[in-house]
This record gives sequence, C-alpha cells and structure tokens, in this order.
Amino acid sequence: MKILVTGGLGFIGSHTVVELQNQGFEVLIIDDLSNSSEKVIDGIVAITGKKPLFEKIDLKEKSKVENFFKKHTDVKGVIHFAASKAVGESVEKPLLYYENNIGTLVYLLKELAKKNKASFIFSSSCTVYGQADKMPITEDAPVKTAESPYGNTKQMGEEIIADTCKVVPALNAIALRYFNPMGAHPSAEIGELPIGVPQNLVPFITQTGVGMREQLSVFGDDYPTIDGTCVRDYIHVVDLAKAHVIALKRLLEDKNDANYEVFNLGTGKGSTVLEVVKSFEKVSGKKLNYKIVDKRAGDIIEAYANTEKANKVLGWKAESTLDEAMKSAWDWEVKIRS
Ligand code: WQD
Repeated sequence: MKILVTGGLGFIGSHTVVELQNQGFEVLIIDDLSNSSEKVIDGIVAITGKKPLFEKIDLKEKSKVENFFKKHTDVKGVIHFAASKAVGESVEKPLLYYENNIGTLVYLLKELAKKNKASFIFSSSCTVYGQADKMPITEDAPVKTAESPYGNTKQMGEEIIADTCKVVPALNAIALRYFNPMGAHPSAEIGELPIGVPQNLVPFITQTGVGMREQLSVFGDDYPTIDGTCVRDYIHVVDLAKAHVIALKRLLEDKNDANYEVFNLGTGKGSTVLEVVKSFEKVSGKKLNYKIVDKRAGDIIEAYANTEKANKVLGWKAESTLDEAMKSAWDWEVKIRS
C-alpha cells in the first residue's frame, strides 16, 4: 500500500519512513530539501534495506502537487511533515511561514478531496496550547492565542483540516500534537541533521558535548519549577514515529471514531532543562559547559502531556526514557562528527 510522506527526509519524517517500511508500506517521499539532505535516503536504506521513492518537490508549486497525484493515483494515505518549524524565524518572516505551512496544506487537501477515500496524518504541536493552565495537558485543554506565526500555522492547520473533513466524507484525518521530539534511531544511521545553529535544547547540548559549541546557554533559572528551569516533555523520535504508523493504520482500517481526531504525543513526564543536562552528563560521561543567561522571549514555563487518550485509544505508549533518548542523540552526534 502506497503512503506519501511529505518532509520525509526531515528529522521526524525520516524516522517515520523507517517505521512505515518496517510495517510493509511502500513509501513515497516528497521533500524540498530546504532543511534536509538526499543523503538521508542512504541512512533509511541502511536500516531497512528498502529505498523509498523520492521526488524533490516544493509543495508551494500547486501544479507540481497536482501532477504528483495524477502520476501516483494509488496513494492511500499521506503523513504531512513538510513545513517550516523555527519559532524565532517565523516571527521575523511570517509570510514565509503562512505560505509554506498553510498554502501547501490547502494544495494537499484539495488533491486528497478528489479521492474516494483518503487518510491524512498532520504533524501538529503542543505549541497550540501555549502555557496551558493545568498539567498534565489533555487534548481538550483550550487552544490559546499562538505566541508565534509558527504556532499559529499549527492551530490554523488543524482548523483547516477539521473544516475540510466536515464536508469531504472521503477524508479522514488525525492531528498529532508532539511535545518535544529528541534523539535518533538506535542504529545512528539517521538522526537530527545539524543545519545551522540549533534552536532546540538537545542538539545544542550534544554539539556542545562534542566540542562544536563553546557553551550551552540555559535560558533562565528563576521560573517557578523545581530547579528554576523550564519543564518540557521530551519524547524519543522513534516512539513518535511509531505513533504515526499506528494513527495511519487507524484511519486505513476505518477504526476512527470521528473523521477528525487529535492526540497528544508525549511521555507524560516533565523534565527541567537542568535535568536534561544531567541526563547528558550521565549518558556521555562528560561534564557539560553551560551558563545561566536571561530567559528566552516566548518560552512557556512548563508543558508535559496527559497521554491517556493516545495510550487507551491508539494503544500507543512512549517506551524510551529520557536517558535512553539522550544516549541515542549522543551516539548520533558522535557518529556524524567521526
Ligand atoms: C526547550 C527548553 C528553552 C535551547 C520548540 C517549539 C515546538 C517544537 C520543539 C517544532 C526551553 C531551553 C533551549 C537552548 C535552553 N518545535 N533551551 N537553551 O521551545 O520547548 O519547543 O521546539 O515543532 O513546537 O515550540 O523547545 O528545545 O527550543 O527548548 O535553555 O540553547 O530548553 O528555554 O525551556 P521548545 P526548545
């Protein structure tokens, strides 16, 4: 069965391609290579022995999207990762984010609406909750006004999909709200490609550990948390990838309860920045050079998932601990620097 993975050469996308292939799906990848590399295909093949079909397409080009679906009429499902995702950049370049994250989604949905049945998995984010009032965060926590155009594109994306599913009976969709993805495939054949200075905590830690970065700046230590640093729910990217395949199969097998569903994907456990640093020091045996600096604008204090819905309804649970995820991130960093 043919599945299209947009952004399939990206961090979460490539790990999901591996899990789809492990489950016997035939995978087609569309990627514009703006934040990935074609070499990722070699890593996927090294793990599964199967080479996914890859087409370099910019989804902003409507005719290219139309032609792709004309050529591949037997695509049964789409997992849509392709989007710009840097919070800070989205504040500086809102139109780039609205065009790339929303325009492309509309083109994809228009193609799927032509099919007699289509299953769609959308890459969303816990960012839609903003600073939630209650921990752990459930799926019915209110969506708050986004703090960035990036977060807004995730909120708008969910609404666009929900509205479309209401009037296109053939379309069934699931939005997966990720908490903080981290780590790499245990084979160290694929992982988070380091392009530019990492905005996210974990790649910055591993790059500091391997000597690429001088020092980690910890953005604030006077938050109302156990050690004053922010709390997040760090989930292993392989656990996240497996959840995508389970969600897709739920739709392909018509097991969904509604034509649009939402699930949080996290471990259900919060970790502070300093706990993540300690995890790195434990798994690497290295002391991390860091300093406490001012808070980063837009950061929320804490976010960790209530995972009951995904556990009970999807039958999925994150298996990796923070240390196991950090070990995989470190092994990947060491491998790509060797
Ligand atoms: C985590 C914690 C920082 C870097 C964002 C997006 C989210 C998703 C994941 C795309 C925070 C602290 C970080 C550093 C630090 N992205 N930190 N020093 O902001 O929770 O989530 O990335 O889908 O949608 O919102 O992740 O890794 O940037 O930060 O102290 O050099 O680490 O303050 O508390 P975040 P993050």
